[in-house]
Amino acid sequence: MGVRTHPNSLLQDLDLDKEQFQDLLTLAAQLKQEKLHGDEVERLGRQNIVLVFEKNSTRTRCAFEVAANDQGARVTYLGPEGSHLGREESVADTARVLGRMYDGLAFRGNTQDTVEQFAEHAGIPVWNALTDEWHPTQSLADILTMTEYHGGDVEDIAFCFTGDGDSNVARSLLVTGALLGMDVRIAAPAGLQPPRDVVAAAEKAARSSGARVLVTDDLDAAVRGADFVYTDVWVSMGEPDDAWAARVPSLLPYRVTDDVLDATGRPGVRFMHCLPAIHNRDTDIGARLYQQFGVEGAEVTDEVFESHRSIVFDQAENRMHTIKALLVRSLGG
Ligand code: CP
Ligand code: NVA
Repeated sequence: MGVRTHPNSLLQDLDLDKEQFQDLLTLAAQLKQEKLHGDEVERLGRQNIVLVFEKNSTRTRCAFEVAANDQGARVTYLGPEGSHLGREESVADTARVLGRMYDGLAFRGNTQDTVEQFAEHAGIPVWNALTDEWHPTQSLADILTMTEYHGGDVEDIAFCFTGDGDSNVARSLLVTGALLGMDVRIAAPAGLQPPRDVVAAAEKAARSSGARVLVTDDLDAAVRGADFVYTDVWVSMGEPDDAWAARVPSLLPYRVTDDVLDATGRPGVRFMHCLPAIHNRDTDIGARLYQQFGVEGAEVTDEVFESHRSIVFDQAENRMHTIKALLVRSLGG
């Protein structure tokens, strides 16, 4: 990528090779058991971590904070307001200041360029906590969750992402699945499919790993045989609110319903979502979509979201265990 950065930074999914990815999953599973049994060992005592978040977050922020606290590290949170970043101080200057005080930095924001600038100037490990392009800590949690439910080798898992195939989460899952040798399908209408360079990167990774990669507008073909069906919000943070007007009609055929899950032909199929999800009228957006378009929920029906086939809260929990593994591997010596 042409950026000089700390070797333990994670700026996008393909910064990891298959072995490193699997090592993080193994460590995450071990840390999860330690916590469950109450015998967790602190590996990050006296370390300080800063979270620089330009966008909102519930899971990612809390996962970093709890993971760090469990391991004996201290955390500072800099939210969308309150620091000088971008207003009175450049990314490069902010990064150099924070690099003098902290041992690691997580960044959530808009452009991938910003997280790369942090990595270039901070001199400490920098982790991408979501940009418009990638969400690598999400794929770590998602693949751990898939392996827990599937039970077999990761290469035997087939999953289908349906909906906004150009979202950060879809892109990350596509390249990660390809890296790991999985059967990856993305179902999305033309115009909302992952960009050409991301598909090319996935295809390249697949040539080494033996993964199968399918990007199509044919949802029926994409879900057939999938062990997991995954979706994300139809309009991501930072996109204009008026995007909903075009997204609702184009993505309604791609929403996850019971029929879509049944079309996999897999009795044990599971539904996945990075969250937050629009699945009823209990949010401002959900209520507005009902008023404007007459739809109850958006990317997934309430029936699916609340069903026994939904494993979304296991994914959310695994955000913490996998981010903990990332912190320990990056800073634990
Ligand atoms: N999935 C996820 O990144 O959630 P948050 O936006 O709440 O961090
Ligand atoms: N694609 C979503 C993911 C949220 C975790 C967004 O960027 O808003």
